[in-house]
Order: sequence, then C-alpha cells, then structure tokens
Amino acid sequence: MKNFAGKIAFITGGASGAGLGQAKVFGKAGMRVAIADIRQEALDKAVEELIAYGLKREDILPIQVDLTDRKAYAAAADKVEEVFGGPPHLLIQTAGVNSFGPAEASTFDDYDWVMGVCLHAVVNGLVIFVPRMVKAYGHKEEFHVAATSSMGGFMAGPITAPYSAAKAAVNILMFSYNEALRPYGGGATALCPGNIRSNIGEAEKYRPAHLRNTGYNVTEKTIGLLKNIHAHGMDPVELAEHLKAGIENNQPLVIPYPNPDKMLREQHEIIELYCTPEGVRKLEERRKEMEEKRKEVRYGLDYDEAGFAKARPDLDWVDPSKKVSK
Ligand code: NAI
Repeated sequence: MKNFAGKIAFITGGASGAGLGQAKVFGKAGMRVAIADIRQEALDKAVEELIAYGLKREDILPIQVDLTDRKAYAAAADKVEEVFGGPPHLLIQTAGVNSFGPAEASTFDDYDWVMGVCLHAVVNGLVIFVPRMVKAYGHKEEFHVAATSSMGGFMAGPITAPYSAAKAAVNILMFSYNEALRPYGGGATALCPGNIRSNIGEAEKYRPAHLRNTGYNVTEKTIGLLKNIHAHGMDPVELAEHLKAGIENNQPLVIPYPNPDKMLREQHEIIELYCTPEGVRKLEERRKEMEEKRKEVRYGLDYDEAGFAKARPDLDWVDPSKKVSK
C-alpha cells in the first residue's frame, strides 16, 4: 500500500504508546484514523494529542472497546463503517499487554490475559475485518493489515512464555495473511520492535478483575522497574515511520533496527542447535554467555532488587532462585 491520503485506518491500542505513534504518522499522511482502546481516559487524551499534532478532529474516531470481546469488536467495526463510510483500508492491531515471570509459575489467568489481548484479539480483528476489507477493496484499491508483534516472537525465554508464544503466533498470522491477500492487491505486515517508549509497564494496573490470579510477583516495585525499562525504548513516531515504510514495500516483516537479518540468524541458530545432540551440548556451553548477554540489555537496572520476573512469593515449590529474595 503506497497511497494513504483520504483513506481509513483502524488502529487498536491507538490511545497510547506505539498505537498513538501510528495514529500520528498515518493521520499526518492524510488518513482518517479510528483509534480503538479499552481505556476511555487515555482515548480522550490521545484525541487532544492528535489534534495538537495537526490532525483534524473530524478525521479522528475514538472507540472505547475491549478487543477480546468479539461482539464489542464487531460493533466497533460497524461504527467505523457508519462514521467513515466504509471499512478500513489499513488495519493496524497494536493493542497489547505484558507480564513476566517464570514459565512454570504461569497461571491460566496469565495466559488468558496476555494471549487474550496479544493474540486472540488480533484473531478477532482479522476475522471481523478482513472479509469486509476484501469485499470493499479487493482487486480495486490498496488495503493492508498489520500487527505490532515483538522481537520476543522470535525468542524463547524462561520469563516470557505467554507473551512470546502470542507474538510468535502473530508473526505467522501476518506472514500467512500476506500470502493470502496478495492476489487481491492487499498485504500484511508484522512489526517486531524490541523496546518501545510506552505505557505498557502500567498494564497490570488495568488487568481485568477476573484474570488477576497471577503466578508472578507483581508489585509497585516490579511495575516501576518495567516502566523504567520502557522509558529507554524507541520513540513511537519513529517506530511508526518504520512500519509505514514496510507497508509501502509490502514487507511481511519489519524489524526496526539496522541488520535485522543478523538478529534473525542469531535466533534461528539457537533453534537449529535445539535439534541435534551436538547442538544441545553446544547450547549448554553457551548458556552462561547467553545469560550474560541478556543482562547487558537491562539498562543497568537491578531486576533482583525489584523482584522483577520472579514467582509469586507463596509458590513454595518454585526454585528459590526464581523467587523474591528477602
Ligand atoms: P501501551 O500500553 O502504551 O499501549 C497499548 C494499548 O493497548 C493501551 O492503550 C491499552 O489500553 C490498550 N489495550 C490493552 N488491552 C486492551 C484491550 N483488551 N482492548 C483494547 N485495548 C487494549 O503499550 P505499547 O508498548 O505501545 O504496546 C503496543 C504493542 O507493542 C503491544 O502489542 C506490545 O506487545 C508491543 N510491543 C511493545 C514493546 C515495548 O517495549 N513497549 C516491545 C515490543 C512490542
């Protein structure tokens, strides 16, 4: 998709962080932007910020919706058609949450919340919007679907199981839809950042009440540390510019850093090592080095002191090194 002016974008998670950056960039490119988000007060602030950024009020449609609720998501899709006169030409699914802790301590609530927003809501958007987009624009006009995934989707980690599993699935979904939509003149893109300057560190604060039985250590301190990590991330507008360039080239994958091929080869090499006895031996030797590498990207923050990514303290069967040190 190369021409954006006058067209319609539907951006999930558009009230904050990466999604708000995308609303700015695609709004500036002349699109009318629907921003869908669960938090009304964040939507209200985002509308003001978009107007201050130069968008016209009538080109912004804020929609409060829980995207994991299929009926509510379908109603949001109806709303954008009613107000903007058609389905989006560009669907960007960016809403997401994260929560970190030892995989073995993960509860159903951890999986249902993280995978619910990061994966199942993306599936909801694809099933609800893609048929509408193909019917309206297939073989006639450019259209595109994208999702904000993560580099985490290429990396297995002991503390990111629900998140990485969701993002790996989102990557494959985007690659699949890219193949599927090309014959109609459409495309699909997975955007895989590493760290974004955003508010995702606060997500635990609005975890739904019925999904609060976490197996992880979640405290004001762990939330504070996560916020600190994300304060070091990429600017959302800069990230959105990378996505825009990727969409213009119909790239199935956008990794917004120099030498993405090298990053992917490193991850792929680990998976190759998984499949032979010799590989497993080599990995064992490299495990220490890999752990040191992980520590290098911690911005000098003391994860242990904050009790970050540890198990819930009362889970007495969890290895003590994975629990909060007293
Ligand atoms: P953010 O918290 O600033 O924005 C995410 C938005 O999603 C929030 O406004 C939130 O209200 C909304 N949201 C959450 N649950 C929702 C639901 N059920 N229905 C509707 N809206 C919902 O976070 P950020 O970082 O901008 O996240 C955007 C995407 O980027 C996420 O998918 C995240 O996984 C991904 N990502 C973030 C990274 C980071 O370092 N912050 C790194 C790599 C990927």
